[in-house]
Amino acid sequence: MRKHNKFLLALSLTLFAGFIGAQMLTANEAKQGREAEPAPTPAVQPAPANGKLLDHLGDTKVISVEPVRQMFSHRTHVVQYKIACVDCHNGIFEQKWGAARAKGDYTHEDAFDKGLYCGVCHDGKAAFATVGEQNCVTCHGSNMVAPDMIYFQKPVRTVVFDHKDHVDKGMKCAECHLQLFDTRAGAAEEQPEKFVMQALYDGKYCGACHDGKAAFASDTRCTTCHIGVRGNERRLAQSAEGKGKNAK
Ligand code: HEC
Ligand code: HEC
Ligand code: HEC
Ligand code: HEC
Ligand code: HEC
Ligand code: HEC
Repeated sequence: MRKHNKFLLALSLTLFAGFIGAQMLTANEAKQGREAEPAPTPAVQPAPANGKLLDHLGDTKVISVEPVRQMFSHRTHVVQYKIACVDCHNGIFEQKWGAARAKGDYTHEDAFDKGLYCGVCHDGKAAFATVGEQNCVTCHGSNMVAPDMIYFQKPVRTVVFDHKDHVDKGMKCAECHLQLFDTRAGAAEEQPEKFVMQALYDGKYCGACHDGKAAFASDTRCTTCHIGVRGNERRLAQSAEGKGKNAK
C-alpha cells in the first residue's frame, strides 16, 4: 500500500515537473503571441494530465484569509487570461503558498503601489488597478471600505473603535491590518478569552499603540474606549443629527 502511494507520488511529481517545463517552453511563444496580436490564441495548451493540475490550482482560490479574504485564482489567470506560469513564477512569486507574505512587504503601500507582486500587472494598464474603490471587491470579495464605527460587545459591551478617528490621523490600513486585526468586524471577539485588557497591556491589539507613548495608555481614560450604553446612545443621536464627527 505504502509503495503504491509512493509510486503515485513520484508519478505525479514527474507529471508536474514535465508540466512546468512545458509551460516554460511556451512562455516565450506566449509573450510574443500576445505582443503581436492580443487575439486570444490559447498559448498555454494543456496536455491531458494538466487539466487535473489546473483543477487543483483552480481550487486553491483563496490565497489568504488574513488580513483579507478571497484573493487570487490560478484558474482565471492561467486559463481565462492565458498568462504563462513563468510570467509570474520568474521572480514575482515563488511557487510556495505564503512566501510573499512571509517577506513582510506584501502590502499596498510597500509593494502594490510601487509595482511589485500583484502590482506588476495590476497597475491600471495591464490589468485593473489596486486603487479605486470599485476594484477592492474584485480581489477582496467585500468592498473593503472601512466602516466608521465598530462596537465591540465581547467580552464586555460597547467598546468603541472609530476608523475615521484613526485614519484621519494618518494611520495606514496596514499598520493595523497586517498584524493586529483582521479586516472583518467581529474577528477579535471570536476569542473573547484573548481579547482582554491584559493583552492590551502586553502590547497586543489596541495596546500596540495605546501604551502611553504612541497613544494614551490602555490603563487610563477607561471611558474613552468603554463608552457604555449611554455613551453609545449619545454618539448615535449625534450622528443622526449630523453633529457627530462621522456625519461630516
Ligand atoms: C498571475 C500570476 C500567476 C500565474 C500566471 C501562475 N501563478 Fe502559481 N502562484 C501565484 C501566486 C501569487 C502564488 C502564491 C505565492 C505566494 O503566496 O507567495 C502561486 C503559487 C503557486 C504554487 C504553490 C502552491 C502551494 O500550494 O504551495 C504552485 C505549485 C504554482 N503557483 C504553480 C503554478 C503553475 C504550474 C502555473 C502555470 C500553470 C502558475 N503557477 C501560474 C501566481 C501565479
Ligand atoms: C489586484 C488585487 C487587489 C486589489 C484590487 C485590492 N487589493 Fe488589497 N490586497 C491585495 C493583496 C494581495 C493583499 C495582501 C494580502 C495578504 O497579506 O495576504 C492586500 C492587502 C490589503 C490590506 C491589508 C494590508 C495592506 O496593504 O494595507 C488592506 C487593508 C487592503 N488590501 C485594502 C484594499 C482596498 C481598500 C482596496 C480598494 C481600494 C484594495 N485593497 C484593492 C490585493 C488587492
Ligand atoms: C502577470 C500579470 C498579473 C499578475 C502578476 C497578477 N495578475 Fe491578476 N490579472 C491579470 C490580468 C491580465 C487580469 C485580467 C485583466 C483585467 O481584468 O483587468 C487579471 C485579473 C485578476 C482578477 C479578476 C479575475 C478573477 O480571478 O476573479 C483578480 C481577482 C486578480 N487578477 C487578482 C490578482 C492578485 C491578488 C494578484 C497577486 C497575488 C494578481 N492578480 C497578480 C494579470 C496579473
Ligand atoms: C488603528 C487601527 C486600524 C486602522 C489604521 C485601520 N483599521 Fe480597519 N479595522 C480595525 C479594527 C480594530 C477592526 C475590527 C476587527 C475585529 O473586529 O476583529 C477593523 C475592521 C475593518 C474592516 C471590516 C469591516 C466589517 O464590517 O467587517 C474593514 C473592511 C477595514 N477594517 C478596512 C480598513 C481599511 C481599508 C483601512 C485603511 C483605510 C483600515 N481598515 C485601517 C482597525 C484599523
Ligand atoms: C496603530 C496605532 C493604534 C491602534 C492599533 C489603535 N489606536 Fe486608538 N488611537 C491611536 C492614536 C495615535 C490616537 C490619537 C492619540 C491619542 O488620543 O492619544 C488614538 C485615539 C483613540 C481614541 C480616541 C478618539 C477620539 O479622538 O475620540 C479611541 C477611543 C481609541 N483610539 C480606541 C482604540 C481602540 C478601541 C483600539 C483597538 C480596537 C485602538 N484604538 C487601536 C492609535 C491607535
Ligand atoms: C484603548 C482602548 C481601551 C481602554 C483605554 C480601556 N479599555 Fe478595556 N477593553 C478594550 C477592548 C478593545 C476590550 C475587549 C473588547 C470588549 O470587551 O468589548 C476591553 C475589555 C475590557 C474588559 C473585559 C475583559 C477583561 O480584561 O477582563 C474589562 C473589565 C475592561 N476592558 C476594563 C477596562 C478598564 C477598567 C479600563 C481603564 C483602566 C479600560 N478597560 C481601558 C479597550 C480599552
